[in-house]
Amino acid sequence: MSEGIGFIGLGAIGRPMARHLVKKFGAVVWNRTEQRARAFAAETGATIAPSAVELVRSADVVMTCLPTSREVREVVEATAPAWRSGQLLVDLTSGDPATSRDVAARLAAVGVGFVDAPVSGGTSGAEAGRLTVMLGGEARWVEQARPLVEAFAATIVHVGPVGTGHALKAVNNALLAVGIQAAGEGLAALVKLGVPAAKALEVINASSGRSNVTENLIPQRVVTRAWPRTFRLALLDKDLGIAVDVLRQTRVASEAIVMAKRVFGEARKELGEEADHVELIKVIERQAGVEIK
Ligand SMILES: NC(=O)c1ccc[n+]([C@@H]2O[C@H](COP(=O)([O-])OP(=O)(O)OC[C@H]3O[C@@H](n4cnc5c(N)ncnc54)[C@H](OP(=O)(O)O)[C@@H]3O)[C@@H](O)[C@H]2O)c1
Repeated sequence: MSEGIGFIGLGAIGRPMARHLVKKFGAVVWNRTEQRARAFAAETGATIAPSAVELVRSADVVMTCLPTSREVREVVEATAPAWRSGQLLVDLTSGDPATSRDVAARLAAVGVGFVDAPVSGGTSGAEAGRLTVMLGGEARWVEQARPLVEAFAATIVHVGPVGTGHALKAVNNALLAVGIQAAGEGLAALVKLGVPAAKALEVINASSGRSNVTENLIPQRVVTRAWPRTFRLALLDKDLGIAVDVLRQTRVASEAIVMAKRVFGEARKELGEEADHVELIKVIERQAGVEIK
C-alpha cells in the first residue's frame, strides 16, 4: 500500500533518511528553517508543506527526526487540531521513553498510532540506506511502519512497547560514549609512552579491546585530524542523560554511564553546541598535552 508520508526535521541525519523516502515513495517535508526545506526540495523534488499543521493534514504517516522528545512533543501539540484517527507518527528521534509514552497516549486518544524508531549507523549509514532501526510500539503500528523504514534501513528490530526503542538507543549511545572516552584516554597515554597511534590501533583492532570507535572513528577522524562534524556532542550528551534516567528508573547501577555523562557534559560546555561527539578527544588531548597520531 502506498501511503502519504510527511517528514519533519531535515537535519544532519533526517536529510539522508528523507532522501531515501522521497526516492522510494515520494514525501511532503517541513523544516523549521525554511531555507533547508527549499534546498532539499530543489535537490530531491520533494513537496514542501507550508506549515507543520498542513503537513499533518496531508499525510497518512508522519515521521519526525528532531533533536529531543521535547521538540517532538512541541510539534505534536502545535499540530493537535490536524491529527485524525488512523494516522501514524513514526518518531526517528533519539528520544526519551517517558515523553514518548506521554505523546503516544495523547495521540492514541484520537486514534493515532505511535512508534518510536530511533536509528543507529550515523550519517554515512543513513546515506547508504543501511541504518539499524529499533522499533517500540504495538505490533499493528510497527508492521505499518516497517516497509517505510525499510527505505533507509538494513536491520529493523521490533524491541517492545512504546519507549523501548528509545531506551535501547540511549543504552547503545552510552556504550559509544564510554568507548570514546576510554579509547581517547588509553591512546593518549600510549602515545605519550612513544607508541604511534597507528601501531596501537593495529594491535587493539586485532585484540579484544576493538570497537567501532577504534576501528573507524579514531583512525578516520582523530589520527587524520579531519574531525568531521556529523553527530553533535550535545546530542550524545542528551542521550547519556536519557540512559542515566533509564538505569535509575530500573534501579540498576549506573557508575560508568554517570561518569561519561559528567565528562561529556563538561566537554559540551567547553566546546559548544556544534562540536562533533568525537571532539571529546580534543579535550582529552589538551589535558594530556599530546595529540593522538
Ligand atoms: N547525526 C547523527 O549521526 C545521528 C545518528 C543517530 C541518531 N541521531 C539522532 O537523530 C536526531 C536528529 O539528529 P541530527 O543530527 O539530524 O540533528 P540536527 O542536525 O541538529 O537537526 C535537528 C533537526 O531538528 C529541527 N529542529 C530543532 N529544533 C526544532 C524545533 N523546536 N521545532 C522544529 N524543528 C526543530 C532542526 O531544524 P532547523 O533546520 O530549523 O535547525 C533540524 O531539522 C537526534 O535525536 C539525534 O540524537 C543522530
